[in-house]
Amino acid sequence: MILLGIETSCDETGVALIRDGNVLADRVSSQMDFHSIYGGVVPEFASRIQLEAIGPLVVQACSDAGVRLQELDGVAVTIGPGLIGSVLVGVNFAKGLAYALGRPLIGVDHVQAHLFSPLIEFDRLSFPYIGLVVSGGHTELYTVNSFTDIVLNGKTIDDAAGEAYDKIAGALGLGYPGGPLIDRIAREARTAGTQHSGNRQNPDGPVKFPLAMMRKGNYNFSFSGLKTAVVRYLHEHSRPLTQERISAIAAGFQDAATGVLVKKTIALARQKRIRNIAVAGGVAANSQLREMFTAYSNEFGIFIPSIRLCTDNGSMVSFLGYHLMKLGRTSDLSVDAYANNTRVPQRARTSAA
Ligand code: KG4
Ligand code: ZN
Repeated sequence: MILLGIETSCDETGVALIRDGNVLADRVSSQMDFHSIYGGVVPEFASRIQLEAIGPLVVQACSDAGVRLQELDGVAVTIGPGLIGSVLVGVNFAKGLAYALGRPLIGVDHVQAHLFSPLIEFDRLSFPYIGLVVSGGHTELYTVNSFTDIVLNGKTIDDAAGEAYDKIAGALGLGYPGGPLIDRIAREARTAGTQHSGNRQNPDGPVKFPLAMMRKGNYNFSFSGLKTAVVRYLHEHSRPLTQERISAIAAGFQDAATGVLVKKTIALARQKRIRNIAVAGGVAANSQLREMFTAYSNEFGIFIPSIRLCTDNGSMVSFLGYHLMKLGRTSDLSVDAYANNTRVPQRARTSAA
């Protein structure tokens, strides 16, 4: 079975071809250079650029894979959540293609595509697993029992982790996207040995920020308090705002952000007695988060995909689309796209813990 997967939920345009669960080709067209001029994604521009990118990208991916469009058995596409204009570009393209080819359309939830993406690379990863999705738009913690049975154990009550990274990077004047920039600066600060011993009173030392919502059994996240603490600290200690001070703040922010993500995920896995932990989404590219999780490898199977698969891509959409199609879960051509913060039919069950 050969499927095309299309991902256009934010600023990337991702296209992949998959045969029986194995990725044949994966192309991503990034708009990062464009949006970095504005310090963040400009939705109207994103969708217009995607509209121009998507056709040639599909042709390129087919050529990479040596597959003709007529050979496709289905078209999988992200139907949300995301920037609605962007999602619609992918959805309308996929609908047109599926209709023209007379093949099924498979609508895929973006967060769920991230959630199952570690299965693409790790044969040893099996259900059930604890899945943490950390991206620019979402921070969600799940128990994953099968492709159709996932339980949402916790999520952010305000900002997503990646959003917090991007906002803090903006406040520090580092640019966009903030995740990789803070990651690099914090890593350099750590290597220089300045990070782990300081306190808030010493402006040039490493900064300690509080971990939010650490009450036992609470698997929700909050990043707005941390964001406020960092911004307040910045205002109080910005004269002079030296490179060392920026590094110390970035490193302190990263300690707090990654610390809470790791602690809650590990606590949930222990509470559920589930041995496998998978981490996905753009923030899973973070070097400190990867190291901190990997430190638990004696106790758990830790599965974090390669960086290319952490950030938005078509492979994860084609992969989940393939498994949904095998289960007969195809979509009607009238399926609706949905924006961020609107919930979906067929969403996960929710549970307090
Ligand atoms: O999954 P993704 O590509 O798109 C969304 O679904 O949102 O995630 C993008 C987010 C951005 O906020 C970006 O700053 C963050 O992932 N990110 C990182 C790193 N690389 C990307 N955050 C922390 N450390 C990184 N190395
Ligand atoms: Zn994403």
